Amino acid sequence: MNILGISAFYHDSAAALVRDGEIIAAAQEERWTRIKHDNRFPSNAVEYCLEAGGLGAEELDYVVFYEKPLVKFERLLESYIAYAPRGFRQFLMGMPLWLRQKLHLPREMDKALGHKYKGRYVFTEHHESHAASAFFPSPFEEAAILTMDGVGEWATGSFGVGRDNKIELHKVMHFPHSLGLLYSAFTYFTGFRVNSGEYKMMGLAPYGEPRYYDVIMEKLIDLKEDGSFRMDMSYFPYCHKMVMISTKFEKLFGGPARSVEAPLTEREMDIAASIQAVTEEIMLRAARYVHQQTEMKNLVLAGGVALNCVGNGRILREGPFDSIWIQPAAGDAGGALGAALFVWYQLLGNERKTDGNDKQKASLLGPQYSNEQIRQYLDSINAKYHVLAREQEVFDTVAEMINEGKVIGWFQGRMEFGPRALGSRSIIGDARSEKMQSIMNRKIKFRESFRPFAPCVLREDAHNYFEMKDGQDSPYMLLVASVKENKRLPVSIPVESLKGLDKLKVKRSVVPAITHVDYSARIQTVDAERHPKLHRLMGVFKEKTGCPVIINTSFNIRGEPIVCSPEHAYRCFMATNMDVLVMENLILYKEEQPQAKQYQIDEYKAQFELD
Ligand SMILES: [Fe+2]
Repeated sequence: MNILGISAFYHDSAAALVRDGEIIAAAQEERWTRIKHDNRFPSNAVEYCLEAGGLGAEELDYVVFYEKPLVKFERLLESYIAYAPRGFRQFLMGMPLWLRQKLHLPREMDKALGHKYKGRYVFTEHHESHAASAFFPSPFEEAAILTMDGVGEWATGSFGVGRDNKIELHKVMHFPHSLGLLYSAFTYFTGFRVNSGEYKMMGLAPYGEPRYYDVIMEKLIDLKEDGSFRMDMSYFPYCHKMVMISTKFEKLFGGPARSVEAPLTEREMDIAASIQAVTEEIMLRAARYVHQQTEMKNLVLAGGVALNCVGNGRILREGPFDSIWIQPAAGDAGGALGAALFVWYQLLGNERKTDGNDKQKASLLGPQYSNEQIRQYLDSINAKYHVLAREQEVFDTVAEMINEGKVIGWFQGRMEFGPRALGSRSIIGDARSEKMQSIMNRKIKFRESFRPFAPCVLREDAHNYFEMKDGQDSPYMLLVASVKENKRLPVSIPVESLKGLDKLKVKRSVVPAITHVDYSARIQTVDAERHPKLHRLMGVFKEKTGCPVIINTSFNIRGEPIVCSPEHAYRCFMATNMDVLVMENLILYKEEQPQAKQYQIDEYKAQFELD
């Protein structure tokens, strides 16, 4: 039985194909259209899923959409009425899309499936989809479920229990009160883009001090012991205006929002630190409450807030649960997968077996390209490449180049599903290098200098470098842990004297390129089962250097979606200062390519809106 899940029209449209309970394929639309967080109908992703499953739309048994558009529409109408006549403009602006597409989803989906699909359309609830995406692929037979995000229909968070093939959600927090929207309001205020720059604000937080923590707690929210809260909406006019925050909010934090691309000041850093601390407190309270209510040992998480890996790390270390599992596509893209799994297990009642491993397949659920396909493309553009006949040659050559400080585009196997690159569409480099953080930010990704990079570490060595238990997994880069004391370096300058971005100037550990200014690192553990090639490459690098850690960042520049095809990868390689590109067994050296000229680089950068 083939079930196609779809999420669209909010942000991060995606499609997923589930066959007899097995996840066959899943991907975000942005990877094809090259528009980050593309929210249009995911026609390309649907086409890919069908191709990956080797079937036509007429062979689908169910098509399921990840939320209930009519209930969402009702929320818009009710919110409008509650604030009328304020908000009329916002209401009018939203209407055309609703009338044209969102209220006519079966028609839209018919069109996208070439009018071949004759089955029924199922609509799950937004938070059900998140919850299903968290529980069903998890390794647990039973677990508590916690979902938190911006907003779905009405819900902005929920908790419940998953047991065998069923999930049950108990309690929800309702719009307009929302941790996702609260975090986004601060994302906007610190000068980053809503629904995109949240990650940057989290990365900025360690530069500041949580000086505004009490102000947020006292004035903006009324936080309960169970992690639920009410927001003072006089600070957040998003129900009736196209803006996240009011002038009252700006006054409270000492002036207007930072304008986009303006220099970052200590105020933004302190604000980022403060809202991050508040978010962690809310996440911890919610986790404790859910534990108390469900008495479960395991916790699963999804919804955009579950991408807050600093908060996740704290739940794991301080919270009451023994283990946690987080859906790697925790945002709305993952809703497509959750919706499809929901139909298979919950609606159709099929059996669910667990064997201690998750069913996410390392989240490598996107397209892959053979050596032959890559060659054909490279030949068509007269690119210069070398074929490494034996796989071992690839590992030896690349490990040596990492050791030499080269920056490498690493394109292998199936593309990742979810926002993180996990070693299939990655840019990798030497974590021991003092200069690498700055080189990667300025010369490769063209992004802000403060942004940290994440490490890949061999799973068997993770506990030697980071504050983790022996054998503990973080295969999806969704947990933050500190660099171990014995890997830190003595700092000659008094740390207290360093303010803001100056904190970057200190070499803090033996792997400085991935050690954030508070010694934290967003960890991906690499094991032989999920990432055989990357694991072997890192094994060779460790033999050579003694170091089981490398930098791993997504294969894209600022504002660009992660590359999907060899063509995207080659273009990005040529437009940046990457030294080497390795696609399967083919290797390309920058100096051998017809030179990319400066204007082409600018042209390339101009294609993507700054995020
Ligand atoms: Fe969501």
